Amino acid sequence: MTRMLVTGGAGFIGANFVRSTLASRPEYEVTVLDALTYAGDRRSLDSVRDDIRFVHGDVCDEELVDRLVRESDVVVHFAAESHVDNSLHHADPFIRTNILGTHSILKAVRRHERRLHHISTDEVYGDLPLDSPERFTEETPYRPSSPYAASKASSDLLVRAWARSYGVAATLSNCANNYGPYQHVEKFIPRQIAAVLSDERPKLYGAGLNVREWTHVDDHNTAVHLIVDRGRLGETYLIGSGDERSNREVVELLLRSMGLPADAYDLVPDRPGHDLRYACDSTRIRQELGWRPVFPDLTAGLPAVVDWYRDNQWWWDERRQQSEARYRLLGR
Ligand code: NAD
Ligand code: DAU
Repeated sequence: MTRMLVTGGAGFIGANFVRSTLASRPEYEVTVLDALTYAGDRRSLDSVRDDIRFVHGDVCDEELVDRLVRESDVVVHFAAESHVDNSLHHADPFIRTNILGTHSILKAVRRHERRLHHISTDEVYGDLPLDSPERFTEETPYRPSSPYAASKASSDLLVRAWARSYGVAATLSNCANNYGPYQHVEKFIPRQIAAVLSDERPKLYGAGLNVREWTHVDDHNTAVHLIVDRGRLGETYLIGSGDERSNREVVELLLRSMGLPADAYDLVPDRPGHDLRYACDSTRIRQELGWRPVFPDLTAGLPAVVDWYRDNQWWWDERRQQSEARYRLLGR
């Protein structure tokens, strides 16, 4: 029996992780710690409501974190402020949750000698030129562009330092862009799906030429399980499907798949400091741990995600009104 503490388990990736963990490992005792910020939603855990312990609380609350970590064998740390545009507008919660929150987790796992897996992002590496074969590797120097990326980079460096200097049993993973069900409609793909379902036009930043590598959330979570089970302590693993696409290609694909002309979108002002391209070399996790994405490209995973948003408007409708109000303030 494994007692697993999942921070940020009411968010997009965390909730998918909790559901898939219980489906594949029903013997696990899962505790979710989540502050239920604007991004968290308990309804994302409805199907496992009776199978988990849910604690409504803050990762910066050191006393609470200490107790929950003591009661666990392994901690998977997803909790974060996750949206780049929000961080550019108001960085404070990113510094607090992503940096101080990770410090709070580190203190507790060190004190109680628990296993930690820290979830991070490829954005810590900055960006790559649009037209180059280059990809990030685990050795690429950190060069974050946004307050979000800088706060995640800080958290990664803390975890690495605690692993090296205090022998904390930690691993890290830096994943490319995720898509899947239960993703907040502030994010690119669900924002465009929800727009089309609301008879509005998708919005592309700048000329829509920036490139992202799209990885299905279930493939990300399979990778996390492999690392928790068999990853080398102190190591970092990059995770990415290899499917790179410009934002314009993604919107065109979406529009066509939803029965609309491929050019039925609008261009809106660009994001400041907008990273051009992300691409991960995930050779290490593929070779060492045998990870393979079930959804090797977006065309394989996207239709079911569109269907999910079509069938679950109750989940995103109200949140969309709030996030679109925030976007109006930003002019995007
Ligand atoms: P999300 O914004 O959907 O969810 C974040 C969750 O953390 C929410 O449930 C929120 O309530 C909770 N939270 C925020 N502040 C908290 C606090 N102080 N205490 C406790 N809980 C708090 O984010 P996501 O997209 O699911 O991302 C999860 C993790 O994965 C983050 O660490 C992010 O950096 C990383 N990541 C995300 C992506 C992506 O494409 N979404 C890719 C790579 C890595
Ligand atoms: O790479 C991993 C990261 O991916 C994660 O660490 C972040 O938590 C996650 O939010 C995501 O960051 P991005 O900034 O890449 O994702 P976002 O969904 O905000 O935007 C994806 C791309 O689409 C980016 O180039 C900006 C663009 N965009 C976004 C929105 C919301 C648009 O063109 N139009 C939009 O309306």
